Amino acid sequence: MSNTIIIKERFKDFDKKIHVDGDKSLSIRWVLFASIANTKSVAQNLLLSEDVMAAINAIRKLGIKVTINKKTCAVYGKGIDGYQYKKNLTINAKNSGTLGRLILGLLINTPYPIKLIGDKSLSKRDFKRISDPLTKFGATFKLNKNKNLPLKIYGSKKLNPIFYEENKGSAQCKSAVILGGLRVDGLTIIKAKKSRNHTELLLQHLRQPVESISKNNHDIIKVNKIKKIKAINYKIPSDISSSAFFIVLTALLKNSKLMIKNVNTNPSRIGIITILKKMGVKIVLKNQKIYKGEENADVYIESSKKLKSINCPVELNSGAIDEFLIIFLVAAKANGVSYFRDLSELNQKESPRLKWGAKILKEIGIKNIVTKSSIKIFGNPYIKVNKKIIIKNYLKDHRVFMTSIIAAHVFGGKWEIHDKNSIKTSFPSFLKIINDLKK
Ligand code: S3P
Repeated sequence: MSNTIIIKERFKDFDKKIHVDGDKSLSIRWVLFASIANTKSVAQNLLLSEDVMAAINAIRKLGIKVTINKKTCAVYGKGIDGYQYKKNLTINAKNSGTLGRLILGLLINTPYPIKLIGDKSLSKRDFKRISDPLTKFGATFKLNKNKNLPLKIYGSKKLNPIFYEENKGSAQCKSAVILGGLRVDGLTIIKAKKSRNHTELLLQHLRQPVESISKNNHDIIKVNKIKKIKAINYKIPSDISSSAFFIVLTALLKNSKLMIKNVNTNPSRIGIITILKKMGVKIVLKNQKIYKGEENADVYIESSKKLKSINCPVELNSGAIDEFLIIFLVAAKANGVSYFRDLSELNQKESPRLKWGAKILKEIGIKNIVTKSSIKIFGNPYIKVNKKIIIKNYLKDHRVFMTSIIAAHVFGGKWEIHDKNSIKTSFPSFLKIINDLKK
């Protein structure tokens, strides 16, 4: 089957209810935490994407039994000291920064060196941001070009607690250090710029010694040595980052309504909702509830007649960090000039996303000025594309693919979008949901 998608038609309006796939951040965390629980844990609605399968295969390599059937996944954890470390072990994180970075926190005591590898995209990404703090615990690292994969981690028997200042707003860095801290006697303290807080919430729900104190623009997180973890039976809610594509699709059509069921609406993840509301999109959270310490809700969206430009407040960046490509499409159709700044982290993702955002906007005829950390987008409420657009060689970044598919369906033109398989990393049902919405 071809790995390229051709789109020539715009989307017709709809009024529908959908379910999107399970949350990727929570799915990977569940796999890792279940692997150190003291008994069997079962997840429902686990995202069975390539990133999460890579996490499952990683813990299997560490001697943890995992069974998967259509509806559930069971992990047979053996406690914090239950990994079977072997000589010459290689773990393949494939495309997943979350897996590659978080798992290193759990491996700081390995008695044999472990090699960590990844795909072409992950091998371009920065791992020094993880090896630097984990080195302070007592582990050592050898990295390709001093900062990339493949890397080797050399664990230590003598680990000590650390103080770590995380100033990028990276949940992966923060989480790797929290997981490391769980292995160590004594108090590890992290001063972290705000970022998604699933790791803290899940560990607190599991009654682990992790305390988080919220300050104005940072959190202080205190981590002590892990206690026994009971079964983590968890029904994973839908992913707001996957929902984002359908939120924007609905907002940009003329007369559509959409309800997305049971989405994780953790306040540290819903930057897109705050940003789009400021731009004039009607979004309502319904049936809000707390599930195992996490906020979940149904997300209701209506098409917008008038979209306003935004000077995006930087404090909203971390809560929308995976959504900017798709948010830029809303800015493209808004009345006026939108400005997004302090976003250098976007170029640290699966592809340099600020560059790709600018490229897609240019292709659809939207003037923009991009720097290393910001973009100004000159919106056009009457935007209509009539030309042929080819999207390829984007390091198979799933979010570039899905953003292009949405752009093609709302702005028109003839699109040839390569590397359809990229969606397998985060959102395998994406194209099926697109087709269902067309029916
Ligand atoms: C993630 C954190 C974010 C995000 C990524 C998932 C996580 O990365 O972009 O898709 O699950 O912790 P950073 O922590 O590098 O900002």
